[in-house]
Amino acid sequence: RRDDLSDLIAAGIRDVPDFPKPGITFKDITPLLATPASLRAVVTAVADRYAGAGVDTVVGLEARGFILGAPVALELDAGFVPIRKAGKLPSRTLRESYDLEYGTATVEMHADAITPGSRVLIVDDVLATGGTSRAAVELVRKAGGTVVGLSVLMELASLQGRDQLSDVNVHALTVV
Ligand code: PRP
Repeated sequence: RRDDLSDLIAAGIRDVPDFPKPGITFKDITPLLATPASLRAVVTAVADRYAGAGVDTVVGLEARGFILGAPVALELDAGFVPIRKAGKLPSRTLRESYDLEYGTATVEMHADAITPGSRVLIVDDVLATGGTSRAAVELVRKAGGTVVGLSVLMELASLQGRDQLSDVNVHALTVV
């Protein structure tokens, strides 16, 4: 049941005050990942939602999107492709930059990672301002992929990340 899932997620996420800097409360999902029933429930919930959607590729966003995205890919019989922070991927990449509160961030995906026409599900742990997810959508589209959806474990509604994802099917397992 959905309420059971929400309870498992709530129990598995730890608020860490003043991390990574003063005034920020970090949502730590490591307790959820370390609990077999919670890890399975979350992966299954995402995979169930997109079963039958013809997903060819799951794209995971560094770093926690890797942890959730790979098992979702296995469940969907899809491949897995990482989007990484700039400078980490060895071969030719597509790049996308986005604004942070101070400065910009850049993410990359291998240019040949997605076959044009592929149906792609993007997976991450948290949707906050939406900058990372927006950049991921742009990278997938640049590569010729179709974004079937963006699935996150948790959406921080107050940061209004959905506002810049109005052209994407966004699914959050829990909204806080
Ligand atoms: C966090 C989170 C998302 C992103 C969400 O990643 O895992 O990827 O921020 O924020 P946004 O919606 O405001 O873009 P982080 O930058 O902490 O990277 P990490 O997982 O590599 O630590």
